[in-house]
Amino acid sequence: MPPVLEVKNLVKTFTLKRGLFKRKKLFAVNDVSFSVNEGEFFSIVGESGSGKTTIARLILRLLRPDRGEILFKGKDIFTMKREELKQYRKRVQIVFQNPFTSFNPLMKVKNIIMEPLEIHSIGTRKEREEKVKQAMELVNLPLSFLDRFPDQLSGGQRQRIGIARSIVVNPDIIVADEPVSSLDVSIQAQIVNLFLRLHKDLGITFIFIAHDINLVRHLSDRVVVMYKGRVVDYGETGKVFENPESEFTMKLIKSLPPIEF
Ligand SMILES: Nc1ncnc2c1ncn2[C@@H]1O[C@H](COP(=O)(O)OP(=O)(O)O)[C@@H](O)[C@H]1O
Ligand SMILES: [Mg+2]
Repeated sequence: MPPVLEVKNLVKTFTLKRGLFKRKKLFAVNDVSFSVNEGEFFSIVGESGSGKTTIARLILRLLRPDRGEILFKGKDIFTMKREELKQYRKRVQIVFQNPFTSFNPLMKVKNIIMEPLEIHSIGTRKEREEKVKQAMELVNLPLSFLDRFPDQLSGGQRQRIGIARSIVVNPDIIVADEPVSSLDVSIQAQIVNLFLRLHKDLGITFIFIAHDINLVRHLSDRVVVMYKGRVVDYGETGKVFENPESEFTMKLIKSLPPIEF
């Protein structure tokens, strides 16, 4: 499969103020390159602060890099103009880490899921309602939830709403930034299995971000391991974890309890 997304020599720094006059440059993402193939389950793994969310925000074009480029189907996303960018923003959706803060608490579930259809002017009112219902079915939630508000749902249910909202526009890529790490362990496996099913049934390309290497190992076709803003391992999941190049990955693997799935 050809790459659908290519990240090339990406650098993102933040300037930190240290006292009144001192400033320090932090390399949150430091010369990162990888490519994601069409239809694959790709993961970015690394400890907290390693630059994962910054990469996600760059991919979504919520941030601009200092250097480097991101190509979507061969086209640099940072040079895209209005219409092209709008298309790109439809093709690439995000599921956030925290389903407790990512929704407007005053919006009903149906409006939360419908919003991306409205933003992208997809379908008539009736067609939108139909798509919202289909998305609810795909994430295994009852239609009776459509009239609820987010605070009337559990964490797992809210994350399912987040997933429904991301799939309703029929995207090519879903970027999921630690989508299960704020959930109870008992719920995590259900949500992970939902991602796997959507990947398989809908053919969506996943960029799954996690700090839990066990999870990534179980899920992904290929993986990048990040450490302090840099890529320290990259390749097929089996190969990376059987024969890692970096000491960091080796340490991560050694610190693991045996896989239970
Ligand atoms: N807006 C920001 N301003 C300053 N520093 C930031 C900002 N966003 C992220 N950082 C810093 O960049 C580094 C990488 O952060 P992040 O991408 O959130 O890592 P991760 O998602 O892997 O935990 C961290 O040191 C973080 O503190
Ligand atoms: Mg993060």
